[in-house]
Amino acid sequence: MIVLVPTMGCLHEGHLSLIRRARKLAGAQGKVIVTIFVNKTQFGPGEDFGNYPRTLKRDMALCRELGSDVVFAPSDKAIYTAGHSTFVVESRLAKRMEGASRLTHFRGVTTVMAKLFNLVQPDAAVFGAKDWQQAAVIRQMTGDLNFPVRIVLAPTVRESDGLAMSSRNNHLCAAEREQATVLHAAIRAARAAVKNAPAPLPAGMLRRKLTRLIDKQRLAKLDYIEFFDPTTLEPAKRVSRGTHMALAVFLGKTRLIDNGRL
Ligand code: PAF
Repeated sequence: MIVLVPTMGCLHEGHLSLIRRARKLAGAQGKVIVTIFVNKTQFGPGEDFGNYPRTLKRDMALCRELGSDVVFAPSDKAIYTAGHSTFVVESRLAKRMEGASRLTHFRGVTTVMAKLFNLVQPDAAVFGAKDWQQAAVIRQMTGDLNFPVRIVLAPTVRESDGLAMSSRNNHLCAAEREQATVLHAAIRAARAAVKNAPAPLPAGMLRRKLTRLIDKQRLAKLDYIEFFDPTTLEPAKRVSRGTHMALAVFLGKTRLIDNGRL
């Protein structure tokens, strides 16, 4: 069994948990293949492709330590050969949330994942629940294009104060890092509101309440908060237990995302 862990490198505890999960899935006989590739087509103009942290040596050592069998770290030119002109587009789930804020993002993700599936031919691929919509879009693409790959989701790994681990946390200055806990605080506040409400809550009302909470942080600027069905990603007009919530918030120039089940 071949298990793929696709990453863009700058590995943190979140990625390491994906590699551990892959190692377990593959078993002693199977192979774990970690890919490290900062995929330019999923970055929009003005986004952080240029200064996305690149720490290949350290990443390779971590992969070795965790027992991955192969690290595949191709060059840009090897993946996007001169004259490359074919893209893979998922056209329903990819439209909202991250897709609405970052117009060509998922086109880049599904294109590179189709390439990696073809190159590596894995039986399973492990993704982090932190990028909930990404996993849903890739699962849809995998089924639609008949890739014989099982998509496995591993839980979000958090810092002790609740901030979801992300390579982009490295870009935060001390004050931004402190206020970045507001993403998880908003999810927790939504969870408490839903738990204490006698009936499903109107999404608009809950969104306004959480927006006020986020606005209290001077350095935080809300991009979106969405409530939706965790499988279909259909927006929920009323929010109750089991509804999923996702949000994106700028801390200075750094855009962070998080999500959770309410
Ligand atoms: O989640 C990521 O790191 C990337 O979007 C992925 C899945 C490796 C594709 O480039």
